[in-house]
Amino acid sequence: MKKLGLISAAALMASGVAAWADEISLVCSAEQDWCDQMVGLFEAENPDTEVLMVRKSTGETLAQVRAEAGNPKIDVWWGGTGDPHLIAAEEGLTQASGVDTSELLGWAQNMAEISNGRAVGIYAGALGIAYNADILTEKGIAPPECWADLEDPRFEGEIQVANPNSSGTAYTELATFVQLFGEDEAMVKLAAVGNNVNSYTKSGSAPSKAAARGETGVSIGFMHDMVNLASQGFPLKVVAPCEGTGYEVGAVSIIEGARNLEGAKKWVEFALRADIQSQAKDVKQFQVPSNSNAEVAPESPDLASIKLIDYDFATYGSSDTRSRLLARWDAEVGDPNPEQ
Ligand code: G6P
Repeated sequence: MKKLGLISAAALMASGVAAWADEISLVCSAEQDWCDQMVGLFEAENPDTEVLMVRKSTGETLAQVRAEAGNPKIDVWWGGTGDPHLIAAEEGLTQASGVDTSELLGWAQNMAEISNGRAVGIYAGALGIAYNADILTEKGIAPPECWADLEDPRFEGEIQVANPNSSGTAYTELATFVQLFGEDEAMVKLAAVGNNVNSYTKSGSAPSKAAARGETGVSIGFMHDMVNLASQGFPLKVVAPCEGTGYEVGAVSIIEGARNLEGAKKWVEFALRADIQSQAKDVKQFQVPSNSNAEVAPESPDLASIKLIDYDFATYGSSDTRSRLLARWDAEVGDPNPEQ
């Protein structure tokens, strides 16, 4: 028996499969670079644990978590906008982690309160507009200053934004328009902006990457993603829209029925630590960290100096509201060429 055991262990090693004592299945809805950094840091501290990670947009992850209810393949969902995390909590698809949130800033604790401890805030970031200065100058197009500017025919075919069904970023935009202008007017405005949209992407940061590369003139997305690209030398300018703007609270949740509950809890505790959050800036992630003792990168957009709406997470992070708004968006704005 002993010999057989040795042989199978050797066969396992030869086949390249490491014999991990522990596995955590993680879906990451933040940027790939940050997902990779976090997995690396966690595995360095926990050498017996392998984190099996995939990156998926926030709305897509909610769809997966719903589809796998009762037989989840995911243990922990880290990153992505808070609304779909709150909806998963409301639908009983996630469970309270019981972590200590006392070091966290108010907006992160608020997320935990709304969700009965099931979603905890890890970062915050404001929504904005970016434009490629070279392209707009070349084409003689005056840069946008307000959301309303994006309805102007001068931007025809120049705007890229994500689809709110798959992307939490684009859902934040949809909810922001509704909070700024009222639901009916928001749909009219989004449809008018839609006339200038060249494509709706699956992921929220893709439009700003396209604008950075010069594939589109203008993008809508999170300012910290835009600042990241500008800091890499791309000719991207960031605009805080004149009417005011919404923001996200990125969250972490443990899936109900997680196979590795202990591992998932360990991940949540790890992700809320000040020393861990302080390292996000090393991979150019410029959100505001939720731990009050974490370092804020000098590049981080200063939320206090941006005209922010009082984003109503309880309402826009509820299942009914999201379903209704997405149905209206599909019917009244719509993506003519949905990505598969
Ligand atoms: C980017 C941002 C995150 C945000 C995420 C949402 O990764 O850096 O702050 O939470 O997008 O992704 P999604 O694809 O769902 O819009």
